[in-house]
Amino acid sequence: MKIGIVISTTRPSRIGHRVAGWIASQAPEGVTAEVVDLAEVALPFFADSAHPKLGRYTEPATIAWAERVSGYDAMIFTVAEYNGGYPAPLKNAIDAIYPEWNDLPVGVVGYGWGGAGRAVTALRPVLENIKAVRVDGPALTFGTHLTPAGEFLTDARDLAVPALYADLAARVPARV
Ligand SMILES: Cc1cc2nc3c(=O)[nH]c(=O)nc-3n(C[C@H](O)[C@H](O)[C@H](O)COP(=O)(O)O)c2cc1C
Repeated sequence: MKIGIVISTTRPSRIGHRVAGWIASQAPEGVTAEVVDLAEVALPFFADSAHPKLGRYTEPATIAWAERVSGYDAMIFTVAEYNGGYPAPLKNAIDAIYPEWNDLPVGVVGYGWGGAGRAVTALRPVLENIKAVRVDGPALTFGTHLTPAGEFLTDARDLAVPALYADLAARVPARV
């Protein structure tokens, strides 16, 4: 099973890569966890003409993104909270394609103050719209699980990351 772990943020001083790396480091045996850095994916800001539902992508970056997402059995979005919502690069990455999301199990892990609760809540109807299979993961909270600088606290491993991987694995057959 191959799982893509998405960093939802792209700012130079982000901690999102630490969160994604931490989740990836806990992948169980038999699971290949690959960090997906939206800064490297570098999608233009919605540059295709045809509606994504048609799957007729023309932008090379969009074509590459669609192929990459298709190559995963499941994905995990690590989600920061920006002004009460989730980061714009994640929304752009979601909106750019469509059929590739349908029936794809997507785990959601919020991180930040309050575990990025408002961002995770805002993401729910979006995942419904793209017909992804949402699987709730742990809410990683500053001061409890990690520091605002992205350093994980020692007891953070008690969180339900193994359960998230197991839940995602259980949903994968729905895709085939
Ligand atoms: C533009 C911006 C807006 C933010 N808005 C919120 C917010 O609404 N609620 C919150 O709890 N934290 C907020 N934060 C703090 C972020 O949750 C925190 O900086 C987190 O590390 C962001 O993820 P990143 O480091 O991967 O970019 C904000 C941070 C930024 C940069």
